[in-house]
Amino acid sequence: MLELKNIKKSYDNKLTIIENFNLDINQGEFVVIVGPSGCGKSTLLRMIAGLEEITSGELLLNGKDISHYEPSQREVAMVFQDYALYPHMSVYDNLAFGLKIKNVDKKIIDEKVKKAAAILDLTTYLERRPSDLSGGQRQRVAMGRAIVKDAKIFLFDEPLSNLDAKLRHKMRAEIKKFHLDQKGTSVYVTHDQLEALTLADKLVIIRAGVIEQVGSPQEVFNNPKNSFVGEFIGTPAMNLLKVDLEYKADGVYVTGKNRAFHFKLPDNKTKFFTEKKLKPTQAVLGIRPTDIILHTNEEAGWNTPFQVLFTELLGHEANLILKYGEEELTSLIPAMHMPKDLKSAEFYFKLHFAHLFDGETGENLNL
Ligand SMILES: Nc1ncnc2c1ncn2[C@@H]1O[C@H](COP(=O)(O)OP(=O)(O)O)[C@@H](O)[C@H]1O
Ligand SMILES: [Mg+2]
Repeated sequence: MLELKNIKKSYDNKLTIIENFNLDINQGEFVVIVGPSGCGKSTLLRMIAGLEEITSGELLLNGKDISHYEPSQREVAMVFQDYALYPHMSVYDNLAFGLKIKNVDKKIIDEKVKKAAAILDLTTYLERRPSDLSGGQRQRVAMGRAIVKDAKIFLFDEPLSNLDAKLRHKMRAEIKKFHLDQKGTSVYVTHDQLEALTLADKLVIIRAGVIEQVGSPQEVFNNPKNSFVGEFIGTPAMNLLKVDLEYKADGVYVTGKNRAFHFKLPDNKTKFFTEKKLKPTQAVLGIRPTDIILHTNEEAGWNTPFQVLFTELLGHEANLILKYGEEELTSLIPAMHMPKDLKSAEFYFKLHFAHLFDGETGENLNL
């Protein structure tokens, strides 16, 4: 439906913010673009909305290049991070404003505003000013303004970042429901990887204006293309440990710094050697906190001489912050498994789920 082809954005022909950006967005899809602050997310949305000029490349809507269309001709609606409501207008007028300036018939405006208000549970607040609304209600008014436009594509720029954690969770569910009800197409940008994982049909991870990976949340979580994606997606973050690799007759061995651990890689982690014939001697082992578990006798594992620095109880779960040499890593365990004696706790790496990244490029060696 919407195709971004080789989109580039630079300021004054010098500073390049976005480069080589290629993305297909399908009808009905919920696409989330996630990346650290300053990586170009707002710039990208503003280019789709027509609020920012595209330096080069094509923006196609159903095959037609719309990159030179005015914002009002694009059939897209944008919900801004700060909501951008008119403070001196009532909720009703905030919702109606965009239609009024287009000289839409008053009766039609009234119908649309009331319908949007009903969808968003704002009917009893239509006479209020934005200053007399809660954060969540203001956020819904901002969405209402997008609804009355009959847009084909909804663009969301970090719409939840000004809300407290509880409300953010609630509004996240409402946005997803809204998307499903409207049968619209949504492009949502955020720096919050949890928001991204929970909302997306298609997840796009960007760093410094360049796409690092596109896939379903599951694909991206299970098969990160590089160590940046591995570390960025998932909480607590994936542990990244520098390791040496040794090639022996019976397999590939990894060794941690100061020989803190030494073990043979499972076969599903040595494809880079057996299939791709790569033979790096240094790599980065990526292991999620949930894959560092307490060692029990049943597992044919490896004891690791990690010292528990401190623990963080999260309710059902607990983080154990572990130290060996100068490195620190995190293990996430069910709180009920918390050992009584932390000093004698031993840990086990679930290596089947670990990742090996190239020591220099960070690329996942087994993908
Ligand atoms: N008008 C501008 N001139 C020069 N640089 C800009 C301009 N607008 C934004 N930028 C830069 O573009 C980069 C991306 O900004 P932005 O798209 O707002 O990032 P994000 O939304 O991901 O936090 C930032 O480094 C920002 O400083
Ligand atoms: Mg932004």
